[in-house]
Amino acid sequence: MKLFYSILILVSITFLMSCSKLVEPPPPSAPELSVHKTGILDKNSPNFHGKLVMSLNWSMKTCQRCHSTDYSGGITDVNCNSCHTEQNGPEACNTCHGNFNDPTMIAPPRDVNGNTSTSSLSVGAHTRHLYENELGSEIYCSDCHKVPQNYMDAGHIDSNLPAEVIFNGLAVDNIATNAAYDHSTGTCSNTYCHGNFEFLKDSSDYQFMYTADKMVGNNFSVIFNKVDDTQAECGSCHGLPPEGHIESALSNCGSVGCHVGIVDASGKIIDQEKHINGIKNVRGN
Ligand code: HEC
Ligand code: HEC
Ligand code: HEC
Ligand code: HEC
Ligand code: HEC
Repeated sequence: MKLFYSILILVSITFLMSCSKLVEPPPPSAPELSVHKTGILDKNSPNFHGKLVMSLNWSMKTCQRCHSTDYSGGITDVNCNSCHTEQNGPEACNTCHGNFNDPTMIAPPRDVNGNTSTSSLSVGAHTRHLYENELGSEIYCSDCHKVPQNYMDAGHIDSNLPAEVIFNGLAVDNIATNAAYDHSTGTCSNTYCHGNFEFLKDSSDYQFMYTADKMVGNNFSVIFNKVDDTQAECGSCHGLPPEGHIESALSNCGSVGCHVGIVDASGKIIDQEKHINGIKNVRGN
């Protein structure tokens, strides 16, 4: 028994000695050299690397000189793509605007300065148009912007803020070729979607529905950062029914067979694909 205890103590001592070897301080090494200022990884620091990119007018060409053109590290040990895990690394469309954690959401909220409030012009009604649109067909970035395929494409970051709003597609359909956006007031005017349209009696299969030689919308001007439900009310973009259309109660629009399947008896749009799609949909078409 004594022998057993002696062996146990001996083993324990050897074990503890080897442990104390492990906690010995490492040999002195060369002092760490840092290219960047302290705070390069701290979102709240003025030296945060995102702010560094912003100060270079959002160009990452300088970063690529050391971190390599594909951002994988280059002459440094720092691989940008280890944190920026989307395709194209830091050049992914949701890096600078949209949701940093969701590559399918690339538009503000979260503008390029980090604002998320709808009262900010750069955030405004993006969510309403893109993700909460229950009123009409799908709206694309390209209806309101020239969309870059790659972040270095001409017309993207090579210009100063504010972002360019260039109407296209559905926004300029029908007679709305003069659709325009005024940054100073945040106003979109003359867009097809908000009622800058004319449908001519002459070219209609349903001429008996006309009280004039054309049906026209209200050509409503809207303010992008006034997101309070008042600007997309039923009757704001066109009358109920529109000017030039024979009288009809809202409850009849869908129920008497004309716009059936598009609007229900309570005036609710039930087929978004057929409303605000550039076509006046009648009788199931
Ligand atoms: C340790 C992780 C990490 C590394 C490494 C990293 N980033 Fe970032 N980067 C982030 C985070 C986190 C954000 C901020 C996300 C947010 O706004 O919530 C960010 C934001 C950015 C932004 C957007 C700035 C803004 O304010 O909108 C750019 C551009 C960027 N990084 C480029 C780079 C480049 C280029 C490299 C490599 C040279 C790099 N990052 C390396 C984590 C990293
Ligand atoms: C002159 C070369 C050089 C340039 C240019 C450069 N970096 Fe770096 N970067 C380094 C080196 C070296 C390190 C690692 C040592 C350090 O942290 O300074 C590094 C580290 C980093 C880190 C990680 C810091 C950490 O502590 O892990 C980030 C993020 C980063 N750089 C972003 C950028 C961005 C964004 C740009 C462009 C605006 C850029 N770098 C331009 C050399 C460079
Ligand atoms: C209905 C029109 C409309 C649609 C659709 C739209 N935008 Fe915008 N966008 C605007 C307006 C208006 C502004 C504000 C311009 C200003 O600052 O005056 C803006 C600003 C922006 C900005 C600049 C933010 C900043 O920081 O200043 C970005 C980025 C942007 N949009 C991206 C997108 C993307 C990506 C999509 C599609 C996913 C999209 N937008 C769809 C109208 C639209
Ligand atoms: C490194 C940051 C960064 C990345 C990455 C980025 N953007 Fe942008 N984006 C900006 C800035 C800054 C603006 C505002 C530019 C201006 O003043 O016109 C902007 C504006 C926009 C706009 C509004 C129209 C315009 O050009 O002003 C759209 C649309 C847009 N970006 C789409 C994209 C798409 C699509 C991608 C991915 C292919 C992308 N962005 C990647 C920084 C970025
Ligand atoms: C944002 C503007 C806007 C608002 C708000 C709006 N409409 Fe429309 N509406 C249009 C446009 C533009 C057309 C022209 C045809 C098209 O492109 O669908 C249209 C057409 C219609 C039509 C004809 C069928 C068709 O082709 O879509 C009906 C019916 C209709 N609207 C009912 C309504 C009702 C009911 C409401 C309220 C719930 C409403 N609209 C609110 C823009 C609007």
